[in-house]
Amino acid sequence: MTRGKLLYEGKAKRVYATDKSDEYIVEYKDDATAFNAQKRGEWAGKGETNNAISAHLYPLLEQAGIPTHFLGRLSEREQRVRAVTIVPVEVIVRNVAAGSFSKRLGVEEGTPLPRPVVEYCYKSDALGDPLINTDTAVSLGWASEEDLRRIRELALQVRDFLVPYFEARGVRLIDFKLEFGKLGTGEIVLADEISPDTCRFWDAATGEKMDKDRFRRDLGGEAEAYAEMRRRVTGGA
Ligand SMILES: Nc1ncnc2c1ncn2[C@@H]1O[C@H](COP(=O)(O)OP(=O)(O)OP(=O)(O)O)[C@@H](O)[C@H]1O
Ligand SMILES: [Mg+2]
Repeated sequence: MTRGKLLYEGKAKRVYATDKSDEYIVEYKDDATAFNAQKRGEWAGKGETNNAISAHLYPLLEQAGIPTHFLGRLSEREQRVRAVTIVPVEVIVRNVAAGSFSKRLGVEEGTPLPRPVVEYCYKSDALGDPLINTDTAVSLGWASEEDLRRIRELALQVRDFLVPYFEARGVRLIDFKLEFGKLGTGEIVLADEISPDTCRFWDAATGEKMDKDRFRRDLGGEAEAYAEMRRRVTGGA
């Protein structure tokens, strides 16, 4: 599998073409950004850690019946994925109030939500990923009603798998962000990544944050927290 043309460089990853038109290579970078890239940083090992965590979780999600873009890990930083057309709607699943949800609604961080909340944002760096509802996504042609129904169903299945998975590893899954894509056949699959960049993880015993909030909020220890999450998720792989 050889890396072809660079198709897209994002804040955390690069996407390359391959010799197969329906497969891409994703390379995880050490860069970190927050607040719509107004805050920038990087640390050694971040790319490898996020690649390892994602590459560990996606096959488990597949086994749990959730179709994903993941095909295999190629190297410390690279994975092979199915080429998809990304649905420009970021899906956030919340189990416990935190972050923008707490701020917007005045609900104290750490308040458990009696039932999970699925939120949608328009994937647009220029606009800062604004909160939308599904009517907006349909009306503006970003996804069909049927696609959005499927996306919500899959997002909740991902939650149902991940919550006990992390609980068994001493981690509370507070919330997480997913991206979905469409295959040529029209099938919706889970794409992008699941990592400490895209989830809030709190240590079950101490409440300590083990995710990108360490970087966002200048708490320090982000490299150690990510490495610890990698150990807990993969058992050291
Ligand atoms: N299987 C896939 N096929 C095509 N594109 C993908 C796939 N998986 C993820 N992507 C896209 O690749 C990019 C990954 O780069 P990165 O995570 O660095 O982006 P980002 O900086 O978060 O920016 P963006 O706002 O574009 O998501 C994202 O735009 C993501 O939607
Ligand atoms: Mg991203």
